[in-house]
Amino acid sequence: MLAAMVAAAGPAAAADAEAGRRIAEQWCASCHMVEGRRSGSDAAPALAGIARDPGRGPGWVRAWLNDPHPPMPDLSLTRAEIDDVVAYLNRLAGR
Ligand code: HEC
Repeated sequence: MLAAMVAAAGPAAAADAEAGRRIAEQWCASCHMVEGRRSGSDAAPALAGIARDPGRGPGWVRAWLNDPHPPMPDLSLTRAEIDDVVAYLNRLAGR
């Protein structure tokens, strides 16, 4: 039982949805609405909406964050940070 839990936690532990939420609040919330916060702007879609968009899967979002297009600035997130943000979006989407 314990071994199974440790094994299950292994790969998932690399990407941390909670860390992703903190990154989103710090770096994305000025433009995108992050969960219940009344922030964000009309120009940028709410992160929860992006998370649930079937055309915006984890691979697509990862590619976008590696190389965002204007008007979104390149935030120069590290791969680990991008993985965390993607894990957070997966959690928002209920994946
Ligand atoms: C300075 C404002 C700004 C910041 C900060 C910002 N974004 Fe954006 N983002 C935008 C805008 C504006 C768009 C819409 C671009 C478009 O429609 O072409 C966008 C688009 C996106 C998209 C694509 C949405 C789609 O469906 O096309 C994703 C994914 C995204 N942002 C994620 C993030 C994440 C994650 C962060 C934080 C790490 C972040 N953004 C930070 C302004 C911002």
